[in-house]
Amino acid sequence: MRARSGGGGGGGDGGGLPRALVLLLPLLLPAAAAASLAWLAGAGAGATGPDDLETRLPVAGARFGWRNLSCPACRVLFAAIDASAQLETSVEHLQRLAATVCVRLHLARPEVCEEIVRLFGRDVVTAWVRSVLRPAEICGLLVGQRCGHWDIYSDWNVTLPGTPKPPVRPPAPPPPGAPTARVLFLTDLHWDRDYLPGSDPACKDPLCCRGGRPRGAEGAGYWGSYSNCDLPLQTLEHLLRHLAATGPFDLAYWTGDIPAHNVWEQSRADQLQALRTISGLIQKYLGPLPVYPAVGNHESVPVNAFPPPFVPGNQSSAWLYHAMAEAWEPWLPPEALETLRVGGFYTLRARPGLRLVSLNMNFCSEANFWLLINATDPAGQLQWLVGVLQRAEESGEKVHIIGHIPPSHCMRSWGWNYYRIINRFEGTVAGQFFGHTHVDEFELFYDEETLSRPLGVAFVAPSVTTFISLNPGYRIYLVDGVYPGSSYMVLDHETFILNLTLANAPGATPQWQRLYGARETYGFATAFPADWDRLLQRFQVEEPLFQRFWYLLYKGHPPREPCQDVCKAALLCALRTARADDPKLCQPLASRFSFFEIQGWWRRQRFC
Ligand SMILES: *[C@@H]1O[C@H](CO)[C@@H](O)[C@H](O)[C@H]1NC(C)=O
Ligand SMILES: *[C@@H]1O[C@H](CO)[C@@H](O)[C@H](O)[C@H]1NC(C)=O
Ligand SMILES: *[C@@H]1O[C@H](CO)[C@@H](O)[C@H](O)[C@H]1NC(C)=O
Ligand SMILES: *[C@@H]1O[C@H](CO)[C@@H](O)[C@H](O)[C@H]1NC(C)=O
Ligand SMILES: *[C@@H]1O[C@H](CO)[C@@H](O)[C@H](O)[C@H]1NC(C)=O
Ligand SMILES: [Zn+2]
Ligand SMILES: [Zn+2]
Repeated sequence: MRARSGGGGGGGDGGGLPRALVLLLPLLLPAAAAASLAWLAGAGAGATGPDDLETRLPVAGARFGWRNLSCPACRVLFAAIDASAQLETSVEHLQRLAATVCVRLHLARPEVCEEIVRLFGRDVVTAWVRSVLRPAEICGLLVGQRCGHWDIYSDWNVTLPGTPKPPVRPPAPPPPGAPTARVLFLTDLHWDRDYLPGSDPACKDPLCCRGGRPRGAEGAGYWGSYSNCDLPLQTLEHLLRHLAATGPFDLAYWTGDIPAHNVWEQSRADQLQALRTISGLIQKYLGPLPVYPAVGNHESVPVNAFPPPFVPGNQSSAWLYHAMAEAWEPWLPPEALETLRVGGFYTLRARPGLRLVSLNMNFCSEANFWLLINATDPAGQLQWLVGVLQRAEESGEKVHIIGHIPPSHCMRSWGWNYYRIINRFEGTVAGQFFGHTHVDEFELFYDEETLSRPLGVAFVAPSVTTFISLNPGYRIYLVDGVYPGSSYMVLDHETFILNLTLANAPGATPQWQRLYGARETYGFATAFPADWDRLLQRFQVEEPLFQRFWYLLYKGHPPREPCQDVCKAALLCALRTARADDPKLCQPLASRFSFFEIQGWWRRQRFC
């Protein structure tokens, strides 16, 4: 198989255990398919129950000696599986087997296994039937290239414009006295409708604080908990009231993940209720402020499932994008709503001379199993981005890009194409803003020729939610503008938190407080890409400064163990890595740990 995605910094999102399950399901389903194969071949007289899975799988493997299969035999067999998997009964059959594996391997409580497999089963099976189970492709994998071409996740390239790249002009500080715009940035709200103060914050499910008696320690706090918990509505409303009182802001970016992490039991109706409730509250409290949203990986059901436009009908994302277009109609112009309805992305003119692009990063994510069918520039989004940037360059506009999943977490080809686009349009893209990891980090972009000249930075802002064991938080970006000719570069940013220890104390009223400002903390004159690159170099030698970054990464509530050795090497490498699977990017850090060890650490973090 081709290389999968790699990058990524600290904490983890995507649902903890359920995310592991999502990634595991494609592994479980072939096992289930193998069992079906045994069944089709009459190995068990039609009685392949979940009970004898463990004995049947090796039998099926030996019987067909995968590698030794002739090409025509392989194709015939998989044509048969393909046909059977399209039948309703087989979907249930495969689901039952997957549920059994989930229970047997103790991946979750039996009820959670059942629910998650029921929820994910049908769509995952459809994706598999339309991709991996296509006889030519699976046989290319099993028997070898002579039998078919396994091209899932293969390389592809967007076409860059023929016009030469304009000469590079390094960013300059704004003239003295120039105004500064304040951009409010909210991400990963993760509202838990069933949050229950006083309940068990340390349950066995992937999401807690929603019932059960606390064992030993205190119960879930009224405003949130340092545990596997999302936020109750009162905390989100308190935040919005606080923001209404501390404005004004010039713009707001809101990069998704509205629902909670109870991904094993969500329905389309649940997700739409979360979308409408939170969008309505933001409109209520922030009034006329223009808010520009992006689509997170948790908006859909099942989580991460974002079929590209080639999937028609009821399985498509129309139910979601159409509801978004309705809920966000007060903020977005008609042309933006049009592309939002098709692919969950859009562009608009946010201010004179400033264009906003909101990307649907689910089209870059390996957790989106629909991309098994075809991962080549889903929805043509990156080629569309090239067109938008080209027109912006021609008309002298600056561009801000917002999205949910940061570029380093993307599949290889998508991420490398995005990197190339940022290189080509470095003079036009003035800012990139993401979320999803729930922690406070950034990703640097360098020139493709030498990988040494910093030319861009993607800011990854911390979540509003506490998930996992964090303070609630939000970010404000201070941006050059709004005046004729403003660069719209980020000049500084500030991070605010709600200290849960203080807020949940008896008789306390919650106080949102400023945690830190980037420039004052890091001693920058500006906050341009070169400043962040120099900061990385200082992290290598100034240990207290690095430990300060580690503390802020977790919004002032870091894990007990400090970040040293491979943790530090992996984190610094992540900050230098805005595209996955590129060991060259971290070579200047001269770490004593191999890229392989570093990637191993990233993977462990992302499943936390
Ligand atoms: C597959 O082929 C190899 C050599 O061609 C042979 O050694 C092996 O026993 C075969 N396996 C099966 C299961 O037929
Ligand atoms: C994409 O571009 C890269 C670098 O220019 C090249 O090596 C690769 O072969 C191209 N891939 C395809 C599928 O065109
Ligand atoms: C569309 O799919 C959803 C979720 O799978 C299901 O609940 C709904 O009944 C379907 N609607 C139609 C018209 O088939
Ligand atoms: C995948 O999608 C791309 C772009 O839409 C298309 O050019 C390509 O032919 C598709 N590949 C397959 C195997 O369908
Ligand atoms: C939150 O408050 C507690 C209790 O006063 C304090 O120990 C802790 O340092 C505070 N955290 C932050 C990030 O200010
Ligand atoms: Zn999230
Ligand atoms: Zn997310």
